[in-house]
Formats: sequence, structure tokens, C-alpha cells
Amino acid sequence: MRSDLFDLNGFHALVTGGGEGGLGAAMAISLARAGADVAVLELESGIERADHTAARVADHGVESLALSGDVADSASVDHAVSTVEERWGHIDILVNAAGIMLRKPSIDTAISEWQRIIDVNLTGTWMVSNRVAPKMLERGYGRIINVASQYAQLAGPLPEPAYYASKGGVANLTRGLASEWGTQGVTVNCIAPGTFYPTAMTRPLADDPDRLEWMRSRTLLHRLGDPATDLSGPTVFLASEASAYVTGALVPVDGGWTSW
Ligand SMILES: NC(=O)c1ccc[n+]([C@@H]2O[C@H](COP(=O)([O-])OP(=O)(O)OC[C@H]3O[C@@H](n4cnc5c(N)ncnc54)[C@H](O)[C@@H]3O)[C@@H](O)[C@H]2O)c1
Repeated sequence: MRSDLFDLNGFHALVTGGGEGGLGAAMAISLARAGADVAVLELESGIERADHTAARVADHGVESLALSGDVADSASVDHAVSTVEERWGHIDILVNAAGIMLRKPSIDTAISEWQRIIDVNLTGTWMVSNRVAPKMLERGYGRIINVASQYAQLAGPLPEPAYYASKGGVANLTRGLASEWGTQGVTVNCIAPGTFYPTAMTRPLADDPDRLEWMRSRTLLHRLGDPATDLSGPTVFLASEASAYVTGALVPVDGGWTSW
């Protein structure tokens, strides 16, 4: 066991959806600051943003990689994970942050739209975890952090039924994988962010002054989350040896949104 339980030096991490500007990028940089090498996986259309995150990771004196791929495509996932494993030998830390949103009433939602949300948010989380886990299990060590939402356990006022369903699924997938892999040294937890500002996903909400004020006042802390600071501690904790006895947990990082 390390003397500094939060030290990630020598660990190798993969962060999906880690392109610049999103929560995944902030989580990738937090891991790098704590000493981990970090590979960032992004859609081909976001590869420049992934390069940017990788450059910021490297600023911390660790190794970085930017990869393009789609978490909802098994061949693409296999290729990305193989690339990281070839480079570093294995992955110690996986952060499943890739995600998409559909803000549309249920009745107007096409099956193909529903399916894409489930494919990326839920099936993608499962596929990447499943592809990374065998080596973790073989080595007897791993930390998987899924990114759910404050809406994994409740719904919100906006019409986002596919998103709510996918995030509820991520929370219970987390518990299911934790129960399978825990005894072999691999913990699986999820962070449930509240409203963080600004990301591509939340900007449309935060641009509406009335909604922004409602979101602020709805939290116990009366402010939105800052990805650069508010996610760091929980991410490093769940990625490190410090969280050895924590698994299957949903960790709210929501300024108290779900506490009342
Ligand atoms: N921002 C928030 O306030 C908030 C709140 C709760 C939960 N979340 C969750 O946090 C995660 C990140 O959200 P964000 O706000 O940073 O959004 P974002 O859109 O800024 O980031 C998501 C990233 O995932 C990438 N991505 C999308 N589909 C992908 C795919 N199929 N394969 C690989 N990469 C893909 C996108 O290109 C993007 O860079 C999501 O899972 C989201 O549901 C965010």
C-alpha cells in the first residue's frame, strides 16, 4: 500500500469522452495532476479537443494519448483499448465519461433517437468496462468510475426520458459490475454530477437566465459546479487506493441537489 493513498504515480488511465470542455477532460486532468498517465478517447469529430486535453495532461509531466473512437461501437472500443494496452501494458483506471443528451418529449422521440442515447450512455459504459476489465481482473487491481447524473435517481422538470433512463441504468450497471468484480480487486463506482457549467451539454440551459437562477438556487450551495475544481477530489479518491473499501457506490457531486 502507498504511503500517500491518493498518489496515482505509475497508474495508467483511460477516460472516454475526454475532449476539451467537458467533465471528462476535467477528470483526465485531475488524474494527471495526481500522477497518472492518461489516454483520452473521443469521437473522430472531437479529436482536436482530445488532443488539447492530452496536451494539458502532458503538462503535468505524465504520458498522454489522444484516441478517436465511438464507445457505442464494439470494434472501435476494442481498437482504442488495445492501443492503450499496447502502449502501457495495462489500464488501472477507467473513467466512462462519454455521454449524450436528448431533450425531447417521450411521444416525439423516435426509436432511433432513444436507441442512440441508450447505446452511448449505457451500452457504451458497459462495453468499455467489459473490454478493460479482463486485464484488471487478471492483475487483481482496477478502478472503474462511471459518470451517471443527479438524474440517475430522480427525474427533472425537462423532457429527457431517454437520458433519465440511460443514467438510471448506469447507476445500476455500476452496482452489478461491482458485485461481479469486487472480490478480484476491481472496484466500480459512479459519480453522479449535478449541474456543471459550462459544458456543451449544459450551455443551452445555462444560457437561459431564469433557468440558470433556478438551477443555482435548487442546489444547497447556491452555485453550479466548476468542472476544473469540484470534480477533482471525488475523481482522484475513486481512482486511488484510498477508496479500496468503496464499491457499487453512487457518489453525488451535485452541490446538494439530491439532498432535498
Ligand atoms: N455537465 C453536467 O452538468 C452533467 C451533469 C450530469 C451528468 N453529466 C454527464 O457527464 C458526462 C460528460 O458530460 P459533459 O457535460 O461534459 O458533456 P460534453 O458534451 O461536454 O462531453 C461529453 C463528451 O463525450 C463525447 N462523446 C459523445 N458520444 C461519444 C461516443 N459515442 N464515443 C466517444 N465519445 C463520445 C463528446 O464528444 C463529448 O466530448 C456525460 O455522461 C453526462 O451525461 C454531465
